[in-house]
Amino acid sequence: MITVIGSGRVGTAAAVMMGLFKLDKRILLIDVVKGLPQGEALDMNHMSSILGLDVEFEGSNEYRDMAGSDLVIVTAGLPRKPGMTREQLVEANAKIVHEIGREIRKHAPDAVVILTTNPLDAMTYVMWKSTGFQRERVVGFSGVLDAGRLAYYIAKRLSVSPASIIPIVLGQHGESMFPVPHKSYLHGVSISKLLSEEQIGEVVEETIKAGARITELRGFSSNWGPGAGLAIMAEAVKRDSRRSYIASVVLNGEYGVVDVPIEVPVILGRSGVVKVLEIDLSPEEREKFMQSVEAVRKLISSVPPSYLT
Ligand code: 2OP
Repeated sequence: MITVIGSGRVGTAAAVMMGLFKLDKRILLIDVVKGLPQGEALDMNHMSSILGLDVEFEGSNEYRDMAGSDLVIVTAGLPRKPGMTREQLVEANAKIVHEIGREIRKHAPDAVVILTTNPLDAMTYVMWKSTGFQRERVVGFSGVLDAGRLAYYIAKRLSVSPASIIPIVLGQHGESMFPVPHKSYLHGVSISKLLSEEQIGEVVEETIKAGARITELRGFSSNWGPGAGLAIMAEAVKRDSRRSYIASVVLNGEYGVVDVPIEVPVILGRSGVVKVLEIDLSPEEREKFMQSVEAVRKLISSVPPSYLT
């Protein structure tokens, strides 16, 4: 069974896409709001019936119902509003993530956890500490989103399919995000050979600002991109596909960093992160990467210690 905690826009988009991918016969939605997950599940069951998916959606307000889940996706937490940074959510969301982490530890002790709550990397740390799981089983989602956005903006300029781009975005899912077009490729050809420096500057800027742009335009933050990214990461776990994606994981010596989660390329499979891939960084790239690491470290140090046990 897959459990999705949080029945807001991101959780429901992810649940629908996982249903369309038929990743499990049972997908459970949990939310604290009475009636919300039950209503969403009923509507999704009608969708499942119409499309012949043979997937059963369930809704619950009880964390204990996640028992038996091998994958738990956490989308709960406050989303940012227009004009807000992700970092401003740290205290409110640390409390929520801590509570949910303790429930996962109790009811789904063998699950892989994928988390979307912002500020993402710091919340991945809170989840890791609260569950007490191995670092490989607590995966922060957003690298897939940031990389997907970078691929989109590059592909638009080259008039090619974004699917042919291997995009690299490292670092924090936040103000110090670090898109790396010079390490991104179109089927083996470096993007730095295909775009001018000016264009590269533009795609970097557009990628960093993409989330805020959506929030400004429509008044609430993204959900379709996150839903799709979660679904392909869930697919890698459920089908043990061992594809590479960019995700946030607590580093343990990779890139010379210890005890900080940050977006890096990883191989994902049934047990979560199977391997962290280390990209060779130039001295300037390394400096930017480390600025991002320090930004996350600073954010983690502002989390009340009671949320880190
Ligand atoms: C985004 O980048 C809200 O963090 C989310 O769209």
